[in-house]
Amino acid sequence: MYNSKIIGLGHYVPDNVVTNDDLSRKMDTNDAWIQERTGIKERRHVVPGDGDTTTTMGVKAAKIAIERAGIDKDDIDFIVFATLSPDYYFPGPGVLVQRDLGIKTVGALDVRNQCSGFVYAISIADQYIKTGMYKNVLVIGSELHSHGLDMTTRGRGVSVIFGDGAGAAILSREEDNSKGILSTHLHSEGQHAEELSLIAPGMGKRWVTDIIADNDPNDESYFPYMNGQFVFKNAVVRFSEVIIEGLEKNKLKSTDINLLVPHQANLRISQFIQKKFKLTDDQVFNNIMKYGNTTAASIPIALTEAWEEGKVKDGDLVVLAAFGSGFTWGSVIIRW
Ligand code: UT7
Repeated sequence: MYNSKIIGLGHYVPDNVVTNDDLSRKMDTNDAWIQERTGIKERRHVVPGDGDTTTTMGVKAAKIAIERAGIDKDDIDFIVFATLSPDYYFPGPGVLVQRDLGIKTVGALDVRNQCSGFVYAISIADQYIKTGMYKNVLVIGSELHSHGLDMTTRGRGVSVIFGDGAGAAILSREEDNSKGILSTHLHSEGQHAEELSLIAPGMGKRWVTDIIADNDPNDESYFPYMNGQFVFKNAVVRFSEVIIEGLEKNKLKSTDINLLVPHQANLRISQFIQKKFKLTDDQVFNNIMKYGNTTAASIPIALTEAWEEGKVKDGDLVVLAAFGSGFTWGSVIIRW
């Protein structure tokens, strides 16, 4: 059995910065509310017509990760792509990345799992590398939220939070079992599936034909819905549990953590976790202030920025943790 390790990271965000004040000119919200409740100051939105999609942003992040990994695109054995905002209903973006990067005909897998998507994707890549089946796996998390948000007062609790962007990692075989990804931990609780969801179009409750037939300008079924306070309460519990689970599995303590990179859902959630584990500001990486919640892209964007800022060093214990729609949650314990 091998371990896997991250050998290259990259991220891409669109140039278009949308501040809280920009939003308050378009909808019923204000900078004070957004900052106080979420910590977000600004986010990036793709300008319609600029050509960026979930796939193209993922490709841009992937190119940087591949270059930094010092490998060739033809060394990639498998692609895993996590998103809740794919370019097409089907096929998923994994194959579009294979095409756009001109990678040979390797397998491409699409992962849902929303805010936990990148953690799930890393876990999948890790298993393939552990068994020896693949040596280098490209893992991408990318989201284009801004084209699908309800910018009316009805949707403001959700639409001020989400932002666009992408992050990517190259996972590669590590023969030293004390290094790289030590363990991954995944969970789900589908009982709360609709508490953070986008119901339509779906083949279950709301078919495309229903939407067309109804032609209802007030239809909210195709906008994301979140029961914010309920999600928040579950998030703080599950984040804590899954971090503890990962540490215990490796006989580690929270004092061993050099850097925690939490999914950027809400600065208040990160601060709660920081306090619970008695971590310093330097031990928790947050960039939600600049990008909002970019769902499956948030951890790879944050991890890339942390690495670029020299906050991830050889030998460090790095913990990734996420919670989101599904509900799904998970953690990754890494000896860098
Ligand atoms: O990434 C996946 C996981 N996601 C999370 O973990 C997010 C968890 N939840 C949260 O972060 C918070 O619940 C939110 C930031 C989404 C919302 O904060 P909240 O403190 O739970 O606010 P709320 O939804 O209870 O709304 C409080 C008030 C309401 O007004 P009333 O009824 O008290 O008069 C809302 O209408 O704030 C109002 N409100 C807003 N006001 C200005 C809601 N959204 C906005 C807004 N601007 N954007």
